[in-house]
Amino acid sequence: MSANRNEWNIELYNEKHGFVYEYGKDLVKLLKPGEDELILDLGCGTGQLTNEISESGATVIGMDASENMINAAKEKYSNIDFYVKEAANFQFEEPFDAIFSNAALHWVLESEKAVISMFDNLKNRGRLVLEFGGKGNVKIIIDAVDKILKESGYPEKAEIKNWYFPTISEYTTLLESNGFEVELAQLYERPTELTDSENGIKEWLLMFGTVVFKDLNVEVRDQIIDKIQEEVKGRCFINGKWFADYMRIRILATKK
Ligand code: BEZ
Repeated sequence: MSANRNEWNIELYNEKHGFVYEYGKDLVKLLKPGEDELILDLGCGTGQLTNEISESGATVIGMDASENMINAAKEKYSNIDFYVKEAANFQFEEPFDAIFSNAALHWVLESEKAVISMFDNLKNRGRLVLEFGGKGNVKIIIDAVDKILKESGYPEKAEIKNWYFPTISEYTTLLESNGFEVELAQLYERPTELTDSENGIKEWLLMFGTVVFKDLNVEVRDQIIDKIQEEVKGRCFINGKWFADYMRIRILATKK
């Protein structure tokens, strides 16, 4: 996962970005964890969904590339095993019945390596239950970031593309050519209400846009972020609430 995610601010994440795991609860229903199953939560962040899965009785292990996320998860859920590992190259001793991943794989630019690692760590007929940003994800926000950065004299920062948002055909082809059978593949709009009703987009950018803004002094950064929020207001501020224009790709696949 990207270096900036590894430096995430845990307090800001838990206080203002709880929607990340709130939406993930629906994906746990699709996982249908069985009591006797061994499940991996890939990109588990601070462990809320890992805990939710474990409450079904399954044995679950959490992994994330971010050490501070994993430390926070270990502190909160001491009954669960958590590991710092990269999605593009990981290996566990025992193969899993299922690999679950919510809102993480769009950080993994080496997508084929991640698919191969998931394949190698599943039992035969083991399943993948995945959801992450798909084609068109946060396009309104990204376009505004690019526009304001260019207008502010930082065209090179507008070129930083830090995420992997595939189409359905791109991702299902990747899965099928690496030994998976795909049972479900959906790309759907999921406008996501942001927690802060005053500065939702600014908070989102401060949390997730750190790599883009990292070399700017705080004053300049804040001016740019103000302008970006203003730029997207017409489309992202609805009935007094801020929304991020999320597009989700959702996958259910089995190792052949
Ligand atoms: C997402 O969950 O779609 C997302 C989060 C942070 C940055 C980009 C996308």
